[in-house]
Amino acid sequence: MLKIENVSMDFYETNSVVHVLKNINLEISINELTVIKGPSGSGKTTLLNIIGGLLLPTSGKVLIDNQNIVEMSEDEKAYFRNQKLGYVFQNFYLEPNFTVLENVEIPLVISEMNKSERKNRINLALTKVGLLDKQDVIVSKLSGGEKQRVCIARAVVNDPKIIIADEPTGNLDSKNGELVMDMLKSLCNEDRIVIVITHNDDYATKYGDKIYELKDGVINEKK
Ligand SMILES: Nc1ncnc2c1ncn2[C@@H]1O[C@H](COP(=O)(O)OP(=O)(O)O)[C@@H](O)[C@H]1O
Ligand SMILES: [Mg+2]
Repeated sequence: MLKIENVSMDFYETNSVVHVLKNINLEISINELTVIKGPSGSGKTTLLNIIGGLLLPTSGKVLIDNQNIVEMSEDEKAYFRNQKLGYVFQNFYLEPNFTVLENVEIPLVISEMNKSERKNRINLALTKVGLLDKQDVIVSKLSGGEKQRVCIARAVVNDPKIIIADEPTGNLDSKNGELVMDMLKSLCNEDRIVIVITHNDDYATKYGDKIYELKDGVINEKK
């Protein structure tokens, strides 16, 4: 269970304060694909970065299995991000000159896993996203849909409990968008917490077990 308790985020500009998140409370369970939608600039990425331990909130707690990630040291956070969290981005953030396999291997190298175990994990992750036969292809040669599937494989390769995806279908056509949403849904059904930000109402309705809207700093349940 992931619990967000009284999370607020203020950004300070030269002569003003922007209250981007105002006392957000949210509980997210495994096996329930959670969709967060909301207008551009409403704080969706900010909230996801707080959940991912990339950004410290102004106040509040983020509890994962009763551990508050806001209070973790930098080392604890790095361990948490590597072992417990997979992050999927709209713009992929892959290493363009590495092969598919080398990209997916990065989190395993960070966790100092031995070579044969790395091989097993990579095979499993690439099988899940249907890219085993492309493992030796340089990423810059792939289509957008394939790149996003590499991101998903990289996000899941350490078998994390939580997967967060920030507009993962934003740069994809509808066929590839559906494929990516199908994969996120299957990962969710493997006892994971999966949170997806999307602008696409059709995907939200079709795939979301829970749908929330973030607007004017507050979050409301839509389904
Ligand atoms: N590091 C920052 N410093 C100042 N303002 C920021 C920062 N990050 C985001 N913001 C502001 O916070 C608001 C929410 O941004 P964001 O979370 O990216 O929204 P969304 O993902 O919903 O489009 C925006 O007004 C944005 O300009
Ligand atoms: Mg955003």
